[in-house]
Amino acid sequence: MFDFTNKTVIVTGAGQGIGKETAKGIIEGNGKVIICDINEETGMATKAELGENASFYKMDCGDSKNIREVIAKILEEHENVTGLINVAGIISKKPFQEISDEEWERTIRINLTGTFTACSAIFPYFMKNGGGRITNVSSVAGKIGGGLLGTAAYASSKAGVNGLTKAIAKEGGKYGISCNAVCPSFTHTPMTKDLSDNPDQNARVISMIPLGRAAEPSEIAQMILFFASDAASFVNGEIGDCDGGIVLD
Ligand SMILES: NC(=O)c1ccc[n+]([C@@H]2O[C@H](COP(=O)([O-])OP(=O)(O)OC[C@H]3O[C@@H](n4cnc5c(N)ncnc54)[C@H](O)[C@@H]3O)[C@@H](O)[C@H]2O)c1
Repeated sequence: MFDFTNKTVIVTGAGQGIGKETAKGIIEGNGKVIICDINEETGMATKAELGENASFYKMDCGDSKNIREVIAKILEEHENVTGLINVAGIISKKPFQEISDEEWERTIRINLTGTFTACSAIFPYFMKNGGGRITNVSSVAGKIGGGLLGTAAYASSKAGVNGLTKAIAKEGGKYGISCNAVCPSFTHTPMTKDLSDNPDQNARVISMIPLGRAAEPSEIAQMILFFASDAASFVNGEIGDCDGGIVLD
């Protein structure tokens, strides 16, 4: 458990999966969490489950204007926001030659541009506030070109998130703004349900993971929470693997 006493953290994509476990960890660490998700039903359900220190804002991470409006509203309505965790993302699993321009654009727009826009929208506030911690959720796909579940568009979006994370770390450091990313591999969430339910595909992916199993979302959340907490006060620009040993770089 990491300490989030006196911290208020925005978590995108917190309606389910890895984002939800991350939001839970902030509450368990005595902090306040602001859940953002495009899915109102799961977002509100997560808020209800986490209690009075959780709030929910509907946000479409594929719409830059909406991201900026919602973040501005959050900053108006909450006194001291100390962190941003970008978890929202979508998968794209078509073979390279079958990826349409629309699929490419949508994957990059939600996974990469959405992460950029959320960071950009909060950056001036963190500058004024004397700092802030940004944590992005990337993927091993961004390092190894996909191949577990996501393919070229997904891998490219996550490689972009890794580059963006390092650039923000470099430019934000002097303002006390840190930026790190976590790269999970196969994790049991609604995103990977089809993969988990397909014995052949499941076995193929598991055979690539030295630990010989998929992760539970709470195991990924632990690394995200570490980066997002003061326990990682001197960690900046780190792209951390939480992948059972696939990447080994
Ligand atoms: N599950 C895995 O195996 C795995 C592996 C590597 C990386 N990741 C990454 O972890 C993150 C979370 O994945 P997950 O497995 O929990 O996925 P998930 O599909 O279970 O949850 C994703 C959440 O993001 C929300 N979301 C999707 N599009 C959105 C949008 N446009 N605006 C706002 N919210 C939106 C969804 O409503 C959902 O609540 C993603 O960025 C994903 O790429 C997951």
